[in-house]
Amino acid sequence: MYLSRFLSIHALWVTVSSVMQPYPLVWGHYDVCKTQIYTEEGKVWDYMACQPESTDMTKYLKVKLDPPDITCGDPPESFCAMGNPYMCNNECDASTPELAHPPELMFDFEGRHPSTFWQSATWKEYPKPLQVNITLSWSKTIELTDNIVITFESGRPDQMILEKSLDYGRTWQPYQYYATDCLDAFHMDPKSVKDLSQHSVLEIICTEEYSTGYSTNSKIIHFEIKDRFAFFAGPRLRNMASLYGQLDTTKKLRDFFTVTDLRIRLLRPAVGEIFVDELHLARYFYAISDIKVRGRCKCNLHATVCVYDNSKLTCECEHNTTGPDCGKCKKNYQGRPWSPGSYLPIPKGTANTCIPSISSIGTPPKFNRIWPNISSLEVSNPKQANVCDNELLHCQNGGTCHNNVRCLCPAAYTGILCEKLRCEEAGSCGSDSGQGAPPRGSPALLLLTMLLGTASPLVF
Ligand SMILES: *[C@@H]1O[C@H](CO)[C@@H](O)[C@H](O)[C@H]1NC(C)=O
Ligand SMILES: *[C@@H]1O[C@H](CO)[C@@H](O)[C@H](O)[C@H]1NC(C)=O
Ligand SMILES: *[C@@H]1O[C@H](CO)[C@@H](O)[C@H](O)[C@H]1NC(C)=O
Repeated sequence: MYLSRFLSIHALWVTVSSVMQPYPLVWGHYDVCKTQIYTEEGKVWDYMACQPESTDMTKYLKVKLDPPDITCGDPPESFCAMGNPYMCNNECDASTPELAHPPELMFDFEGRHPSTFWQSATWKEYPKPLQVNITLSWSKTIELTDNIVITFESGRPDQMILEKSLDYGRTWQPYQYYATDCLDAFHMDPKSVKDLSQHSVLEIICTEEYSTGYSTNSKIIHFEIKDRFAFFAGPRLRNMASLYGQLDTTKKLRDFFTVTDLRIRLLRPAVGEIFVDELHLARYFYAISDIKVRGRCKCNLHATVCVYDNSKLTCECEHNTTGPDCGKCKKNYQGRPWSPGSYLPIPKGTANTCIPSISSIGTPPKFNRIWPNISSLEVSNPKQANVCDNELLHCQNGGTCHNNVRCLCPAAYTGILCEKLRCEEAGSCGSDSGQGAPPRGSPALLLLTMLLGTASPLVF
């Protein structure tokens, strides 16, 4: 008994390490959904949490302007050169390609000279406000992974709001306010993301950092995703394990970086001085040369591939899940309630695969996944989340803790801490040890599995 257990640990150790060689233990990749491993039972699939790569999401969006006829050039009009109100013979003409500035030019290849840009009509109806809504829609939930960067060709607006929607444009929430004077424009105290902390990271702020007053030359506006990530992952985002742990445990944090649509509300163009120069209203307009949005399809850690087909993004779901976001179990795989994959334990996560429906067994208990505070688990070594060997968590049933992050289990066992019998997960333990099987392991493990939840729920 002992001998065979030792042998199987040994066999698993050797083969797992050889299988894992092609996938170096780098945090935050989650780039495979499954690999084949060799156990004494032969080749078996080992399932992992997985997600698509982060990419340029502007290739997949639809853009809508409000008012729809706000783009300059129909009818043709002239506008003043940037920064020179006395050179007002530039022309915008929608019917002449060289003089037209349609919205697509916000998303084309940059680095061209002169740069291409979208431009609005001028503020000729002053004092009626010149306002434009630019709505970017993906018709798919996406997770932002890098700063949103908007590059203006005109001066940066005096007042602007960036908004987001999580329900395909039905409801909107502000993401960030931008103004030359936050108090005056929005009755908010000016703040910068650097003033925030882990605890206030979700606060919606008004910033004056990108206003015309600060640096007249810069034309860029950021929505700072990376600075917010850094509150968890540290400077230069070296400790992604900690960020992923927090994303796993805090739905609000995950949702904060998730959108289906973004809306840029341009509320007042750059004026530069205190008064609007009413004699030269052709000085005032909005022009944007580039918008950058990087992110990935949200597939609930059940897919690495997101396909763009028929102008629609869809996750290619694994783990027997289905739906645009892999948000439910496939038909005949509803043996337990659907659950998103989990980033933990680092680095491979937990797949939480859907399992075949077994009509004879009643509905198993719902997932109860409350991870302990991850930042408190990894204090010993900031580079590695100490997930499987610390004062709280130990590998069970003869499993060994590999690199502090993953239990390597004897062939018969599985689960984050090797706390489950493999046959139990597969539903093949035999009729007497299936549904009514008593929970295995020490009272401490039981407590822990209640605390953590497991890939397959224990039946109590
Ligand atoms: C922009 O959207 C807001 C919110 O729906 C709306 O109140 C406003 O009228 C819109 N502005 C324009 C110029 O369409
Ligand atoms: C999903 O179901 C197929 C059979 O339809 C099976 O071969 C495969 O192993 C299952 N995958 C997972 C992750 O359970
Ligand atoms: C998580 O742990 C850190 C470090 O021990 C602590 O400062 C923080 O307050 C904890 N957060 C929660 C939500 O318990």
